[in-house]
Amino acid sequence: MASLEHTTMRIAARDFRRDLDASHEELRELLALTHAVKRDPAAYRSALAGKYISILFEKPSLRTRLTFELAIKQLGGDAVASTGKIGQREPLKDVARNLERWTQCIVARTYLQETIDQLAEWASVPVVNALSDIYHPCQALADVFTLEERFGDLRGKKVAFVGDGNNVAHSLMLTAVRLGADFAIATPEGYQPFADIVAEAKALAAVSGAQLALTGDPAEAVSGAHAVYTDVWTSMGFEDEAAERRVNFQPYQVTAELMEKARPEAVFMHCLPAHRGEEVVDEVIESERSVVFQQAENRLHTQKALLMMLMG
Ligand code: CP
Ligand code: NVA
Repeated sequence: MASLEHTTMRIAARDFRRDLDASHEELRELLALTHAVKRDPAAYRSALAGKYISILFEKPSLRTRLTFELAIKQLGGDAVASTGKIGQREPLKDVARNLERWTQCIVARTYLQETIDQLAEWASVPVVNALSDIYHPCQALADVFTLEERFGDLRGKKVAFVGDGNNVAHSLMLTAVRLGADFAIATPEGYQPFADIVAEAKALAAVSGAQLALTGDPAEAVSGAHAVYTDVWTSMGFEDEAAERRVNFQPYQVTAELMEKARPEAVFMHCLPAHRGEEVVDEVIESERSVVFQQAENRLHTQKALLMMLMG
């Protein structure tokens, strides 16, 4: 019978609050398990039998929320969900100590990374970051898996991120360089990724042999790239800055002309939701090069592997 014995490796940190909570070895195992789960989903239909997860979302979501709910159900478990600001109706530490008595895992999407960290501190069950202001680690898992499906070993491949040095950029940068992919990010002045996360990525790149480059020039970033990635100019929680951002990011729009500067086989990537006519033009996101729906599909498969490695 299918069971958790499909993988013996567990994420030793017990939580997935940020990308680096999984070691390099655990990340490799997660990607291998994802391949197996994607190939033969039926073999895992009882892997989380009798297990429940709490899904707490402070912000809207289509992909993350539905793929977590589907992942747990397809693994034989079930999920319960609640929305609203965590810690508003009652202290966060009380929320955590309720949920740990009912469910075996907490998946949370929050405004602040601090909320994820506090939940992990107070709850004895694993806490998964389903997007915060600083990280989107579950997205990065699906993204590198999608890249491996297309290009194989990522060592020596180049990923270019064009736009805001945001949560998606932080997680992708850390995860891609760890797997040996070169990473270049082009942002306007004032929207660079956080310096401490760049420093972490540099240290990881030194180990994997990857190159890491920060620039203001989109053409320079995408030159020689196997993948061109962008995300919204205004992330959830930053809506007050939307008008100013629309002006500052205009030169960073991913157009067909910019895609031409990447490798001929380069793919276009986006975590979705996308704002066509802002960070990307319709012609690119609807083109043959676009793998945005493969990325979205792979959220389901990578999160199954993640849940199995956390809830065993
Ligand atoms: N990519 C992503 O996280 O999408 P949702 O905001 O719909 O979950
Ligand atoms: N950077 C975006 C990603 C949405 C999936 C946001 O935080 O709103």
